Amino acid sequence: MKKTETAVVLSNNKLSEGIYDIVLECPECAAMAKAGQFIEIYPDNGVNLLARPISICEVGEKTLRIVFQVVGKGTELFSGLMEGDSVRILGTCGNGYDLKSGSALLVGGGIGVPPLLETAKRLIAAGSDVTVVLGFRSGSFLSEEFKKAGAKVYIATDDGSVGFKGNVVDLIKSEDLTADTVYSCGPKIMLKFLALHCEERNMPLQVSMEERMACGIGACVGCVVKIKDETAADGWAHKKVCKDGPVFDSKEVCWE
Ligand SMILES: Cc1cc2nc3c(=O)[nH]c(=O)nc-3n(C[C@H](O)[C@H](O)[C@H](O)COP(=O)(O)OP(=O)(O)OC[C@H]3O[C@@H](n4cnc5c(N)ncnc54)[C@H](O)[C@@H]3O)c2cc1C
Ligand code: FES
Repeated sequence: MKKTETAVVLSNNKLSEGIYDIVLECPECAAMAKAGQFIEIYPDNGVNLLARPISICEVGEKTLRIVFQVVGKGTELFSGLMEGDSVRILGTCGNGYDLKSGSALLVGGGIGVPPLLETAKRLIAAGSDVTVVLGFRSGSFLSEEFKKAGAKVYIATDDGSVGFKGNVVDLIKSEDLTADTVYSCGPKIMLKFLALHCEERNMPLQVSMEERMACGIGACVGCVVKIKDETAADGWAHKKVCKDGPVFDSKEVCWE
């Protein structure tokens, strides 16, 4: 069940240019957090901005960690939060990943990387063999933390500044990486090509869709995606990412 909670900022660090790493003390949300879920953060600055969805990067006993990129007014405001500040959050939101036993391949692109850290930690704790493929335009962040958690890490960058020069799908093909289950989060175009590859290789893939949201609580249709539905007249249903997602089975998503 979702709750509104007043979270206290325990730390705010700049991870790299425009990327911030905040730890929030929020015992109620932390107690129910699952890997792949997100929280809604209210930019309470007197301006009537809607809450912004940000994925849960790590879960502590009473804390949630978020890692985000500054792209507009809301995230700019969050980047200025200081230790001891309070911020209103709604959480935990969405369904998260359905963690399976067996080997796991985690594939993240850019700001889709953070939710995979808690996912990797939980899978490793459950005894899974975890390989992580992280894709960035240039440079990287969080990769050392995946290694510390016990995952085998591969990095792909568009400019070749770190690791493989190219995209994550090309890296997966060139290293012939396979797993019992693939979990992913990143830009839709990356998810689409990963879905095609996983289908060819018969690997089940769960994708987290970070669509633009408005209300964030299922009350508008600001975040719909087309999902297969045999009961619908045309075979498709419009599902809400904030309520029915953000994680879906890749074979059910309309990638057109
Ligand atoms: C389920 C979910 C989880 C998310 N997790 C994270 C996360 O862990 N870290 C992170 O940095 N971001 C994450 N996002 C994206 C984040 O919510 C947006 O970047 C943020 O809401 C932008 O708010 P803003 O006020 O700063 O920018 P705005 O002023 O609202 O927008 C600035 C620009 O960013 C674009 N934009 C806004 N939202 C999105 C989006 N969802 N996808 C692509 N472009 C967008 C707008 O089109 C615009 O061009 C997530 C989104 C969803 C739906
Ligand atoms: S953002 Fe309003 S329904 Fe999802």
